Amino acid sequence: KPSVKKIFLYLHKLAVDFFKKNLSSDSGKKARDYLKRRNISALISSNFELGYSLNSWHSLEEFFRKKGITIEDAIKCGLIIRNEKGHCYDRFRDRLMFPILDYQGRVVAFGARALGDEEPKYLNSSESLIYKKSEHLYGLYQAKQHIVKEKSVLLTEGYIDVLSLVEAGFKNSCAILGTSLTKEQIFRLSQLTSKIILLLDGDAAGQKAALRSAEMILSQGLDCQVAILPNGEDADSFLKKFGSKDLTYILKNAEEGLAYCLKMVRKNKSPKEQILWVENFLDKISDFKLKSFYLPKIAYGLGLSESELRQGLKNVSQTQTIRDSVFS
Ligand code: UTP
Ligand code: MN
Ligand code: MN
Ligand code: MN
Ligand code: MN
Repeated sequence: KPSVKKIFLYLHKLAVDFFKKNLSSDSGKKARDYLKRRNISALISSNFELGYSLNSWHSLEEFFRKKGITIEDAIKCGLIIRNEKGHCYDRFRDRLMFPILDYQGRVVAFGARALGDEEPKYLNSSESLIYKKSEHLYGLYQAKQHIVKEKSVLLTEGYIDVLSLVEAGFKNSCAILGTSLTKEQIFRLSQLTSKIILLLDGDAAGQKAALRSAEMILSQGLDCQVAILPNGEDADSFLKKFGSKDLTYILKNAEEGLAYCLKMVRKNKSPKEQILWVENFLDKISDFKLKSFYLPKIAYGLGLSESELRQGLKNVSQTQTIRDSVFS
């Protein structure tokens, strides 16, 4: 008897094939037009196994039944939903389907984009036995060998950003998928390269994510660079407007990660908050050598001498100790 995990993987494999067939069928014209509007080529679409979920409540369910699948299993892995009244229906309907692959290339989840302005713009699989959101990066399976070859990875926000980057020749690209970067994701990347280039959206959310992600990457001892896109652009829209030559220029001018963090911290925090940020950043680093490597750079970036910074940190930890002793 196959394990539950094997069954879930099998259902996802069946679903990908079903969605792909839909995309090339008559009913898939709407989705193919959407791909055309977004400049996604047939080659990219096939390399990333894009598909289309039909505008119907029961098409995947019926497909599963025909294949002799137990619907309970499809419900448990999230592809079919059962409401309180006991009615079953397909989770994904009338959307462009992006399979999310694990490190071995097996489909473990989907992202699904609305073709118009329905909400949510992207509907994603919920977590399951085979899908822990924090462990996966979109496009990593296809990017692996290119990351090793280029000795760096381009980390972007969304599905379409990855497709556009790959189309433009930046094949060492993968996406965080909106969430903040996690330790597990960084660990995965660290097995392929020691250099992560952040290419997040040029908006407030993207800037915030860049700071948080850079902190995390640096504290794991990896090299980090932050590429800055013009306000309102993401990798996809930038490439469409300006092309790959201009993106190469942006990447060449990427800021060193720690310098970027310190610039943002200095811009947005009071001197006291800046020291707290440093304290918190250093706390995340377990490697003592790495800490002493960063310290003078941090002082420089904050416009302090090293001894001023050390004194500041001492004061903070003393206040901490007093607070701890009051509360213990
Ligand atoms: P963005 O809002 O930047 O979307 O979210 P996008 O990728 O540029 O969308 P397009 O270009 O309009 O298609 C970045 C990523 O965050 C996740 C998706 O992974 C998306 O690609 N996201 C966003 C969601 O999961 N759900 C949403 O409703 C929105
Ligand atoms: Mn958005
Ligand atoms: Mn965004
Ligand atoms: Mn976009
Ligand atoms: Mn975006």
